[in-house]
Amino acid sequence: MSKQGAAATGEGIDWWSILTDRAFLENPYDELKRLQALGPVHLDEASGVYFVLGHRAFLKVAKSSELGRDTRHWKNGWTAPDYRVHDPVGYRLFSEFQPQMINCDGAEHARMRKVYEPAFRSQAVRDVGALVEAEAAELLDAMPREGTVDFIEAFAGPLPLRVLCKLFDIPQSLDETVARWSASLIRIGDILMTPDQKSEALEALTEFKAFLREHVAARRARPGDSLMDLAIRAHDDGTLDEEETLTNLVSMLVAGHETTVTLIGNGLLLLLRHPGEMVRLRADRNLLRTAIEEFLRMEPGGNMILRVAREDVEVEGTLIPAGAPVLGLVGAINRDPARFERADEVDIGRPANAQLTFGSGPHVCIGAPLARLEAHIAFSALLDRYASIELAGEPEWRLDRLNARGLGRLPVRVGGAA
Ligand code: HEM
Repeated sequence: MSKQGAAATGEGIDWWSILTDRAFLENPYDELKRLQALGPVHLDEASGVYFVLGHRAFLKVAKSSELGRDTRHWKNGWTAPDYRVHDPVGYRLFSEFQPQMINCDGAEHARMRKVYEPAFRSQAVRDVGALVEAEAAELLDAMPREGTVDFIEAFAGPLPLRVLCKLFDIPQSLDETVARWSASLIRIGDILMTPDQKSEALEALTEFKAFLREHVAARRARPGDSLMDLAIRAHDDGTLDEEETLTNLVSMLVAGHETTVTLIGNGLLLLLRHPGEMVRLRADRNLLRTAIEEFLRMEPGGNMILRVAREDVEVEGTLIPAGAPVLGLVGAINRDPARFERADEVDIGRPANAQLTFGSGPHVCIGAPLARLEAHIAFSALLDRYASIELAGEPEWRLDRLNARGLGRLPVRVGGAA
C-alpha cells in the first residue's frame, strides 16, 4: 500500500477554487475531464478532502465497509474537539441534522432505512403513479396550448414538491414554505457553507422540525396510510426516537425535492439541445426508460457524493486514512471513458447504463424508484400534450449551489397541444 497521499495525483490543484468557479458551475465537464485524465483519486492537501473521479474507484468507495456516510468519523469535521467553540452555529446545525439514515452507518442506518423501505418497493411506487399523473396533468392544463413558458416555474419545479406533499400528507398551501426550508437545507450537501448559509439552514431546520412535530401530533389523531403514518408508527413502536422521526422526515422532503426538479429540467434541456434524440424518443416511447438513465448520467444534478473513511483504506493505489472525507465527483464518474463508450455523447438508447447518480452501496438513494417514476410520467405527459417543444431563449443554470447543478430558468416555446 502506498504512503498516505503519495499515489494521489494532481497535488497543487486548487480544488475548491475550481469547484466554486462561475465558469465551472456553468459547465464543469471539460474541466472534470482534464482532472480525471490525471488520475481517479486525488488528495487536496489544503482541505484534506480526497476527490474521486474514476467510476471503478468510486464504486469501491461507495460500497466499501471501511468507508461510510457518518460524518462523526470526519477527523477535522464538526465533531472535532474545538469545532463547537469556533463554529457554534455550524455545530448546532450538523448535530441537529445528524440523527437520520443518511448520516449513520451499519445497524443504526439499517434500522432507520427499514422504516421507509416498504414505501419505495416497486409495487408501492407504481401505486403512486395515478397521483403523479394527476399532478402532472393539472400543471400541464395550466400551461398555454401555444406560446412561451418557463418550464422550471410552470412544471419541473412544482411537480416533485406537490407529489411529496401528497405522499407525506402536507397541505399544498405549505408548498412554498416547504420549498424555502428545503432550499436552505440542501446546501448542507455543498460541504463549503458560509456562516450566513449555516444560520439560514439552522433556522429552516428548527422551523421545519417544529412544523413536523405539530403535524405528527395532529396526524396521530387521524391515522392513515401516508409516508407520515409510516414514520409515526415507527416512532410509536420504538424503532425511531423523536429526533430521528423528525430529522428523517425533513431529510426525505429535502432529498426528494430539488433533485427530481433537476432530473426533469436537465433532462428536457438535453433533449432540446439534441433534437435528433427528441425525434427518436417521440418515434419510440419505449426508449423513455433508457432516456431517463441517460439524463441521469449526462446531467446528474447532484455533483458530489460524500463518504468518510472509518478505517484506513486503499483505493486504486491511494491510501485514504481513517477520518478523511471523500467526495465522488459524479459529473466525472458518469463520463469515465474507462467505463462508458462514447462517454460524452448523448444516446437515449444506451444499453446497461451504469450511471452512479443515485450513489451505490448501502446508502444508494432510497427514493430512486420514485424519482424515475416521476420523470417517466412527466416526460410521457409532456410529449403527449405538445407536438412541438423548442428552446425559446438561453437557459439559466443556478450558480448558487455547489452540489446541485440545476436550472433556474428554462424558457421553452410549446405548440401543437393535443
Ligand atoms: C433524481 C432524483 C434524486 C437523486 C439524483 C438522488 C440522489 C441521491 C444520492 C446521490 C444519495 C446518496 C447515495 C450514496 O451516498 O451512495 C441519495 C440518498 C437518499 N435519497 Fe435520493 N435522490 C433523488 C431522489 C430522491 C427522492 C425522490 C427521495 C425520497 C422521497 C430521496 C431520498 C433519499 C434518502 C432518504 C437518501 C438516504 C438513503 C440512505 O442513506 O440510506 N431521494 N439520493
